[in-house]
This record gives sequence, C-alpha cells and structure tokens, in this order.
Amino acid sequence: MASLSPPASLKDGVIAIRSWRQSDLLRLVDLLEDPAIARWTGIPAPYTRREAKLFFKTNARQEAMGVGTDSAIVDAADDDVLGGVGLKLHPAHSTAEVGYWVAAHARRRGIATRAVRLMARWAFGDLEVMRLELLTHVGNEASEGVARRCGFQREGLLRSARLMKGERVDLTLFSLLPDELI
Ligand SMILES: CC(C)(COP(=O)(O)OP(=O)(O)OC[C@H]1O[C@@H](n2cnc3c(N)ncnc32)[C@H](O)[C@@H]1OP(=O)(O)O)[C@@H](O)C(=O)NCCC(=O)NCCS
Repeated sequence: MASLSPPASLKDGVIAIRSWRQSDLLRLVDLLEDPAIARWTGIPAPYTRREAKLFFKTNARQEAMGVGTDSAIVDAADDDVLGGVGLKLHPAHSTAEVGYWVAAHARRRGIATRAVRLMARWAFGDLEVMRLELLTHVGNEASEGVARRCGFQREGLLRSARLMKGERVDLTLFSLLPDELI
C-alpha cells in the first residue's frame, strides 16, 4: 500500500491542509490545551510535548502504512496553524472516517467546514473512497453543524461505542456519499 500524505492541491484560497512538521510541535501543544478539545475528542488531556512527540511518531507510522493521515489545517496566507484534520481509511471496503479540531481563536469562521470539504474531495477522488463517515459525541452541536454544512446524513446513535478517557461514550454516526458533498 502506498504511503499517505496530503497532496499540495488540498487548499481553497483561505486554508491549506499540509503535513505536520516538527517545527509545529510547540504550537500544537499550545492549541490542544483546550477544554472543548479535551471534552469532545479522544486527543489526550493534558496535552504536553510528550503527547505531541508520540503523535508525530504514530502519525508517521499510519501514513507509511497507508491507513490514515492526520494533517495540519493552516491559514493559506501565512501558514499559521488553525487546526487539525484526519482521515482513517478502510481500503477493503472503500470507506474512510474523517475527524477534526479547530483552534479556539479560529472557530465559527467555516474553517472546519472547509477542511472537511477538501478532505472529502480528496477521499472521493484520488483515494477512491465510496463512503465517508463522521462520528460525533452526542451533544457536540458544533461538530454536528460541520457535518450538516458538508452534506452528511445522520444515520443514528451508536450506544457505548468507544472508550474515551476512561469512560464509555455514545456517538452519533453521520455518513457522506460522493454525490452528497456540498
Ligand atoms: C467542532 C469544531 C471543529 C467546529 O469548527 P469550526 O471551524 O468552528 O466550524 P465551522 O465554522 O465550519 O462551523 C460550521 C457550522 O457548525 C455549527 N457550529 C459551529 N460551532 C458551533 C457552536 N459552538 N455551537 C453551535 N453550532 C456551531 C454552525 O452551524 C456552523 O455554521 P455557521 O457558523 O454558519 O452557523 C470546533 O468547534 C472544535 O474544534 N471543537 C472542539 C473539538 C471537536 O469537537 N472536534 C470534533 C470532534 S467530532
């Protein structure tokens, strides 16, 4: 399987999606120290340099294996890091899952919506994905808004779906098929 990393074409004039760089490490630690990210994602909390270093290693491994990629969302004008977006592939079924976070100061400006649209276009195009999934914690209205704005359909409740930070959590499953992306 070919290694996976975001192509240079993942940009829309406002944001770009690019691979994480070692030089982003301190910025990443700073941005991920955020209560909303701790509450709604599986990203470790507290988030220190140690977690960031481990993340760079595991991300490089999943990209080399071609099974997933976690990338930076940056400002297209000045490369400032605005968030993160990732894809996990299930090649045997031509499906993938998208996940994301946006830095607190950059929220409510459509950044996550733009990032998910770019990742979805890549997934449905070059990566030949036929179904993109999105899982949100029940009650995460901001993330549900992103799903809705990109055209995802709500499929249902996944009870006790994951163990996150020591607790079992219910998730809402959304999916997007190639002709539904808006
Ligand atoms: C969820 C998250 C990524 C959204 O990022 P964002 O860039 O602010 O999202 P967008 O600006 O693209 O918002 C898209 C739509 O979502 C909805 N939305 C966004 N934030 C919202 C909020 N706090 N409350 C209610 N609806 C919200 C709105 O409908 C919005 O459209 P509008 O601004 O035109 O009304 C961000 O809030 C975040 O990082 N949260 C913590 C981590 C997280 O929840 N990650 C997702 C895990 S599944």
